[in-house]
Amino acid sequence: MKKIGFLGCGKIGQALLKHIKEKRYGQVVFIEDPFADLPGEPVVRSPREELYGETELVIECCTADVLKEHIELILKHGDLLMFSVTAFSDETFEKKARELCGKYGRKIYIPHGAILGTDGIFDGKPVWESVEITTTKSPKSLGRTDTERTVVYEGPAREACRLYPRNVNVHAAIALAGIGFDRTKSRIVSDPAVSTNAHEIRLKGSGIDIAMHIESYAAGAVTGAYTPWSACGSLDRICGEDSGTRFV
Ligand SMILES: NC(=O)c1ccc[n+]([C@@H]2O[C@H](COP(=O)([O-])OP(=O)(O)OC[C@H]3O[C@@H](n4cnc5c(N)ncnc54)[C@H](O)[C@@H]3O)[C@@H](O)[C@H]2O)c1
Repeated sequence: MKKIGFLGCGKIGQALLKHIKEKRYGQVVFIEDPFADLPGEPVVRSPREELYGETELVIECCTADVLKEHIELILKHGDLLMFSVTAFSDETFEKKARELCGKYGRKIYIPHGAILGTDGIFDGKPVWESVEITTTKSPKSLGRTDTERTVVYEGPAREACRLYPRNVNVHAAIALAGIGFDRTKSRIVSDPAVSTNAHEIRLKGSGIDIAMHIESYAAGAVTGAYTPWSACGSLDRICGEDSGTRFV
C-alpha cells in the first residue's frame, strides 16, 4: 500500500484516482489542484510540504510549468510518475531532475501515455539513425482556429515541445527514450476534419524499419481516449504486486 499524492487531477488524474481505489493500491494523501471539484477527496489548493512529506509517490497530471515549480518538493520526499513529459525538453529542468533523483535516491516514472512502444524505442537506442513523429490533432485541441489542414510545425522535437507543451508529450517521451530532443524530428498538423489525436511514428536503424500509427478519439481535448487506460496500466506496473504472466 503506497501513500500517493496528486499534482493536478483532471481527465488523467481522475481516471487514476478511480483505479487506485478499485485496486486498493494505497492511500491518497492529497490532491493539489486549485480548480478541481472533487467532494470528499483530500483536495488542497496550494502546495503543503507536510503533505509531500507523508507521500511516497506523486502523480503529476497538470502542466509542465507547474511540474517544474514543484520538482524539488516532490523528489525531496518521494518518487514521481509524470504525464507532462514536455518538461524534459527544458535542459535546465532535465539536469535538475536527474540531479535531484541522484541526491535523494528517487525514481521518475515516464509513462508511454498516448502512444505505445517507448520501452522498445529505448531498447533500440544505440541503433536508431532517424526517428520521426507526426501528430495530427483538431485545431481546437491545438488551441488554433484553422479552417483547413495546416502543417503548423516541422523541426526538432525540442522546439515542438516549447511551442505546444500540452500537445506533444509523446514527442517528448519518444525523444527521451530514443535519440534526444534535438535529433528527433517532429511534425504537428492541425486538421479541422479530425476528431482524433493521431501519431505516426517512424524509426529507422541498421536493418530495422518500424512504423506505428496510433489514433485515439479526442473530440478537441488534449488527451485522447486511450491515455487514461494506458495511465492505469503504467500505475499497475509501478504498484501492482501481481503474479503469473507479465509483459516486459
Ligand atoms: N504523456 C502523454 O502521453 C500525455 C497524454 C495526454 C496528456 N498529457 C498531459 O498530461 C497532463 C494532464 O492531462 P489531462 O488531460 O488530465 O489535463 P486536464 O486539463 O484534464 O487536467 C489538468 C488538471 O490540472 C489542474 N491544474 C491547473 N493548474 C494547476 C496547478 N497550478 N496546480 C495543480 N493543478 C493544476 C487543473 O485544474 C486540472 O484539474 C497535461 O500536461 C497533458 O498535456 C500527457
